[in-house]
Parts: sequence; structure tokens; C-alpha cells
Amino acid sequence: AGVKGSFSERTFIAVKPDGVQRGLVAKIISRFEERGYKLVGLKAVVPSKELAEEHYADLKSKPFFGGLVDYMTNGKAPVVAMVWEGKDVIRQGRVMIGATNPLDAAPGTIRGQYTQVVGRNIVHGSDSFESAEKEIGLWFGKAGELIDWTSANEQWIL
Ligand code: PPS
Repeated sequence: AGVKGSFSERTFIAVKPDGVQRGLVAKIISRFEERGYKLVGLKAVVPSKELAEEHYADLKSKPFFGGLVDYMTNGKAPVVAMVWEGKDVIRQGRVMIGATNPLDAAPGTIRGQYTQVVGRNIVHGSDSFESAEKEIGLWFGKAGELIDWTSANEQWIL
């Protein structure tokens, strides 16, 4: 996940299948682009059950685990998986997404603007440096899937 706290910090952000179905992919990407973050990985994927179970391994004991894995993997829409890079992007990404429970998500956050219930909260973002490292490795494990490039924006934003 890059170097924690540096300009090269990286986080894993995913538009979940409900966000894709609702046509919100571009709006979610725009928020990260306009904030000045750099897109270093992007793909649409229907994850395997194994991938989704590993991604949500911490939640294995939760009653909603099976439903969550099914909703991510059933292919009714893909997941749009992304890696974004920039200063404090892990924490900022979470702030931009808003609270997990839409009732607590501030207006102006992604979930605060677009969602009503936790089980259909359209987007995921890594919650720590350790999660970001794990999730980036899981979703973008193959060589060459992440691109190092220099954005002309950087001299003005960083
Ligand atoms: S918990 O219960 O505190 O561990 O859960 P939380 O950290 O708030 O959320 C972890 C992820 O589980 C998703 N979640 C749910 N999905 C479906 N149905 C229900 N009821 C539900 N509750 C929580 C939540 O959206 C988080 O997913 P991600 O993709 O990480 O945002």
C-alpha cells in the first residue's frame, strides 16, 4: 500500500455491484480524481467466492457474511476494483465514503448522498494500512496490474 503517511500511500476502493447497477461508477471515480488522488489500478471483476471470503475474512462470524459474499459474487453486476494513491488516501478515502451505516453517514459523503441501508452501501474502502496492503494484494496480485506514473497535477497538489 505504498509507504504509510507518504505521498505514495495507496488504498483499495471498490464500487460494489449495487453501485455499478445504479450507474454511480463515474461519480465515485470523479470524487477521488477531483480530490487530486492518482488512479494506479482499475478493473471490473466478478470476484470468486474465495476472493470475497478472503476479502471479508474478519466478518466470517457475522450473520450477514453469507449474504454479503453472495451479493459481491453473484454476477448480477461486477465489482469495480480500484487502487488510489496520494497523501493519507487510506483515511481520506474513508472520510469521503462516509460511515458504514448510512444513518450515520454525513451529507456530502458518498454514502451520505446515495445510500439508505448498510447492506447496499455501494462502495468499500480499506480501513487501515494493513487492510489496504492485504486488499491490494488480493485484488491486484498479478504483476503489471498497478501502474506507476507521474501526474502533472502532483506539483500543485503535493
Ligand atoms: S462490523 O459488524 O462492525 O464488523 O461491520 P463493519 O465494520 O461496520 O462493516 C464491515 C463490512 O460489512 C458490511 N456490513 C454489511 N453487509 C451486509 N449486510 C449487513 N447487515 C452489514 N453490516 C455490515 C459493511 O458494509 C462493511 O463492508 P465494506 O465493504 O467493508 O464497507
